[in-house]
Amino acid sequence: MPKERILVVDDEQNARSALRTILAEEGYEIREAVNGEEALSLLSEFAPDLVLCDVRMPKMDGLTLLRTAKAQGSEAVFVMMTAYAAVETAVEAMRAGAENYLVKPIEVTAALLFIEKALEKKGLSREAGLLRERVRERYRLDGMVGEAPEMQAVYELVRQAALTRATVLVLGESGTGKELIAQALHEQSPRKDKPFIKVACAALSETLLESELFGHEKGSFTGAAGRREGRFELADGGTLFLDEIGEMPHSMQVKLLRALQQREFERVGGTQTIKVDVRVVAATNRDLVAEVKDGRFREDLYYRLNVVSVTLPPLRRRKGDIPALVSLFVEKYGKSYGKELRGLAPGTMNALLAHDWPGNVRELENAIERAVVLAKGPELTADDLPPSLRGPRPASRDSSSLVPGATMEQIEREAILRTLEFASGSTTRAAEILGISVRKIQYRLKEFGAEKAT
Ligand SMILES: Nc1ncnc2c1ncn2[C@@H]1O[C@H](COP(=O)(O)OP(=O)(O)OP(=O)(O)O)[C@@H](O)[C@H]1O
Ligand SMILES: [Mg+2]
Repeated sequence: MPKERILVVDDEQNARSALRTILAEEGYEIREAVNGEEALSLLSEFAPDLVLCDVRMPKMDGLTLLRTAKAQGSEAVFVMMTAYAAVETAVEAMRAGAENYLVKPIEVTAALLFIEKALEKKGLSREAGLLRERVRERYRLDGMVGEAPEMQAVYELVRQAALTRATVLVLGESGTGKELIAQALHEQSPRKDKPFIKVACAALSETLLESELFGHEKGSFTGAAGRREGRFELADGGTLFLDEIGEMPHSMQVKLLRALQQREFERVGGTQTIKVDVRVVAATNRDLVAEVKDGRFREDLYYRLNVVSVTLPPLRRRKGDIPALVSLFVEKYGKSYGKELRGLAPGTMNALLAHDWPGNVRELENAIERAVVLAKGPELTADDLPPSLRGPRPASRDSSSLVPGATMEQIEREAILRTLEFASGSTTRAAEILGISVRKIQYRLKEFGAEKAT
């Protein structure tokens, strides 16, 4: 990981060397220039990430340097330094595209914080762009977010199964994304231009369910006014999604089995045999194997449905995907409620990560929607989250075993390494979780690496 580069531009020798010492200690690579002209030639040669620039200088002043650099398309972030008396000039510089300004005499801690923030912002927007690309290419499947290994295995399976007509059984707890998978199976299949028809098996009485699936002839039962096509017919050429198949009454299971085996059926009250070409996807949050054992679900139907089975992991087993899901929902609900949101306030992500999410992605989505509605500022805070998430966090066993007895350095190291592991190696996510900068993590990692080498 290359060091971030900072160009210090000031006509005062003392100011430059003080800054150089402090910044070099922080791990930045530093170059100096005594005026705007000199700085301008270093912009292309040194390609600084950030320019720390005095406003008043002989030859070319800071404002002119800033304007010229921006006009030349420099991507460097500018932080201006100005005397208290010249704050107006600094404000003008902000208008000209400077990121921020520092008032002289410069207060070291504040300056470092400023610089780090400015660099982070630059780095993050670049990284976010890259991340989005990656997500689109590999980890996303028609609106599904999550790059946990278990999810990638699911995507792979869906991509393969989508090409066939094989019946797919989608398993997983409530809110894990079973319906999204059913839709993805359709969208990725050669049937995507034909209908995707859903039947909520749990919502209907037995009689209604039969007529819903297979249709009925006029007057075939009380309330059956005209002739009606069933969902199997409507789905012809496309995909039929049987949601909550575990709730289907026993007698219906027999009829469904026949339709699946022969791809033909009769309407309720009808004699004509209807043939259809339908790909069936069924889903349930029940444990079908146990249902079969207990005699509530027909074994033959179970095997018929279970040609390919896709099991979605509960969210608590892939917490590393929480930050990406949160971004997705913040963006989605920010848009729909017309709120310009920057993201999460420090600490909020920790609360989200500490929760076990029994309602899985749906519960997370609802929590974020609620937070977006309640948010008063540009950031979602822990106070905007549902009360169940705000309780005291149980101390983690692992970290408590380090304390007392470990040095702060060891604890920091442990915290960084474990969080990185948890975030599948993403420094951006780890930084978000730990509430420190990406740069700091990268810097520390380099140190750890150097330690190992010696
Ligand atoms: N991986 C994911 N990426 C983005 N959104 C997701 C993901 N998984 C689920 N969701 C969202 O979470 C919500 C619940 O998903 P879905 O309806 O597919 O769950 P389900 O498994 O069918 O739940 P249930 O068993 O309760 O019917 C939906 O709004 C869906 O868009
Ligand atoms: Mg569902």
